[in-house]
Amino acid sequence: MTPPLPGPPVDLRSDTVTRPDARMREAMARAEVGDDVLDGDPTMRALEERIAGLLSTEDALWVPSGSMGNLIALCVHLDRGDRFLAPDHAHILEHEVGTAAWLAGGMPRALPWTAGPGAVSPSDVTRAVARGGPYFALRDRLLCLENTHNAAGGTVTAPREHRALVDAAHAAGLLVHLDGARLWNAAVALGVPVAELAAGADSVQVCLSKGLGAPVGSVLAGGRAFVGEARRVRKMLGGGIRQGGVLAAAGLVALERVDRLAADHEHARLLAAGLADRGWRTAVPRTNIVVLPVDDPSHTVSVLAERGVRTVPTGTGVRMVTHHDVSRADVLRAVAAFPAPD
Ligand SMILES: Cc1ncc(COP(=O)(O)O)c(C=O)c1O
Repeated sequence: MTPPLPGPPVDLRSDTVTRPDARMREAMARAEVGDDVLDGDPTMRALEERIAGLLSTEDALWVPSGSMGNLIALCVHLDRGDRFLAPDHAHILEHEVGTAAWLAGGMPRALPWTAGPGAVSPSDVTRAVARGGPYFALRDRLLCLENTHNAAGGTVTAPREHRALVDAAHAAGLLVHLDGARLWNAAVALGVPVAELAAGADSVQVCLSKGLGAPVGSVLAGGRAFVGEARRVRKMLGGGIRQGGVLAAAGLVALERVDRLAADHEHARLLAAGLADRGWRTAVPRTNIVVLPVDDPSHTVSVLAERGVRTVPTGTGVRMVTHHDVSRADVLRAVAAFPAPD
């Protein structure tokens, strides 16, 4: 058996495992605060305005997590008896405990990836929308997009494809919500402003706690009326945070780190190339997620864990995510820990 790696484990389970560094903790300690449920918190407001500006939306709302941001958007957009469409294996379909259905009241419909990994085509959207059914038919109401697509391996949707999907959805009478948990990664990979990847969407959720390294927080953005409703739903869900500026301050520091994501993407390519050299078959990653197909994901994950490399199983493979706390040297150590393919 290969011995464990010398040194601390390399944690590739997710880009959510990063710890706030001294600069971020200091910004949190010094944050100017108010009561956001009563009359506002200046640091939360500064973050919300900053992100609304970056996404070119009228307004934005800080929320504790990406899952809550997605849920609030769906609660605002959907009524009971409505249906929403999303690319197969979207986070909102599989990893949010079904809240889209049991709290937002929407029936999900997964669209197969006909336009590449994680991607659906505008004609799929048009075809999926049922029109003129009997009174007991579901009402198609919303398209949920995900950029980057996590389960597909951090794949990106470029501005032109994004815009074509939004236009097809709107033409079919659907609203569009964008789960942009890693929209920053997509923007860096494509070399475009995040606003181009959010253009036309009726709501957008972006995470600060993934590759950007904040300990907590997402922002939900959209039109002024949408954000007003979203604020009410956030309160209904218990998500009104009083002196949230302590948390939003970390988000403002996180925003300074968008360009740094290019290093994570380079590390992911290095990881994939190292695995390919060792005989594994894996796609070249576009961003910071590598999904390696294996026969028995749980077994491979436990073998790697014994060798000091932490990963997570997916349905068909092992997922590895590069992030701020993983260096080039860590990636090379991780490659060395891999067993030979069968
Ligand atoms: C694509 C996507 N959307 C939403 C979320 C949910 O974010 P959170 O963990 O902050 O609830 C995640 C989390 O990994 C994600 O990958």
